[in-house]
Amino acid sequence: RVVAVIMVGGPTKGTRFRPLSLNVPKPLFPLAGQPMVHHPISACRRIPNLAQIYLIGFYEEREFALYVSSISNELRIPVRYLREDKPHGSAGGLYSFRDYIMEDSPSHIVLLNCDVCSSFPLPEMLEAHKRYGGMGTLLVNKVSAESANQFGELVADPETNELLHYTEKPETFVSDLINCGVYIFTPNIFNAIEDVLKQKKDRANIRRVSSFEALQSAMKALPADYVRLDQDILSPLAGKKELYTYQTLDFWEQIKTPGMSLRCSGLYLSQFRHTSPHLLASGDGKKSATIIGDVYIHPSAKVHPTAKIGPNVSLSANARIGAGARLINCIILDDVEIMDNAVVIHSIVGWKSTIGKWSRVQGEGDHNAKLGITILGEAVDVEDEVVVTNSIVLPNKTLNVSVQEEIIL
Ligand code: GDD
Repeated sequence: RVVAVIMVGGPTKGTRFRPLSLNVPKPLFPLAGQPMVHHPISACRRIPNLAQIYLIGFYEEREFALYVSSISNELRIPVRYLREDKPHGSAGGLYSFRDYIMEDSPSHIVLLNCDVCSSFPLPEMLEAHKRYGGMGTLLVNKVSAESANQFGELVADPETNELLHYTEKPETFVSDLINCGVYIFTPNIFNAIEDVLKQKKDRANIRRVSSFEALQSAMKALPADYVRLDQDILSPLAGKKELYTYQTLDFWEQIKTPGMSLRCSGLYLSQFRHTSPHLLASGDGKKSATIIGDVYIHPSAKVHPTAKIGPNVSLSANARIGAGARLINCIILDDVEIMDNAVVIHSIVGWKSTIGKWSRVQGEGDHNAKLGITILGEAVDVEDEVVVTNSIVLPNKTLNVSVQEEIIL
């Protein structure tokens, strides 16, 4: 049997995701019309003999209650949210719920970061992991040398795929092969984490008796029960025939910013062509709007037949799109109204916002730049004939004049 665990983190982790994380925990932000965490969860369905899916985080329980119960019913696989009382780090969080995870006596544990966008080739990874015979297998990917330092960089044996060397976000370049935050482990991972916890406790005890300076540095250090999977587990175990790598040749991205969420929404929409074509709008029928490329429209959204939508557009619940409106590369959240002849390009429009007639909300479309897309927070009103370009607008603002390259607080 296999148990899957998705690390969802907590509210302090989502700061780069503001203002979108002010309303909804980042793991529930919709990409291609589905909560971010829904994509790894549905990938888990392909794992043979999957017994349970756990989400581990330090958000309030009630924030996940509704989603977890509806997805359990839909997939007919039990999905549970387990709340840490405080952050224990990516490995410490896993360890603190080892009793739950081991209840099903799994032979393997699939561990996933929630903020990565991938096709999650989990059954293929599991097969490779069994062939390698180690304690863990990491999904890895090649990225450009300039961007590699945002990730765990690693070196693997080209013949055996063994992980030989691992450094987390190094200052000087090590390798363009990086850790994707997707893992298969045997239950022995818990022994490895326990060893690190013991070492940390021993060190803390020695420090306590040695000197005042040592005490000061210990106070600055992370708590003794905080264990990071990358620095504390993967780095020391590299080169010991315990860890192996499986390279994905399919799409993979990290989702730390709103700009990347827009890009990843598009990647998931294009994946729907193969996995869930019924979720894509077809634009068939005389009364429906013109649809270009991959578009998701929630069944409760109302789109005027003369509107033109796509590519890469997601319309959430109760969105209303007026006559002659044009939408390209954007995420439109719940209860948004876009009035006649308005244009939205390279943007995310927050819950309950309104965009007036003949207005334009637009970005230049650079997903990595800070102001590369325009983001409107919740309940922003853009009045008629106003142009908003490359800007971030915080919730509850009314814009009656045009703005460019601004952050409106
Ligand atoms: N439950 C819980 N508790 N989750 C946590 C905690 C914690 O204390 N700390 C982090 N997480 C979750 C995050 O929400 C995220 O899904 C995952 O664990 C990893 O987060 P970080 O430890 O902050 O690392 P990162 O996202 O900057 O980088 C990791 O992922 C990259 C791939 O996206 C590293 O593993 C990199 O090496 C890797 O390249």
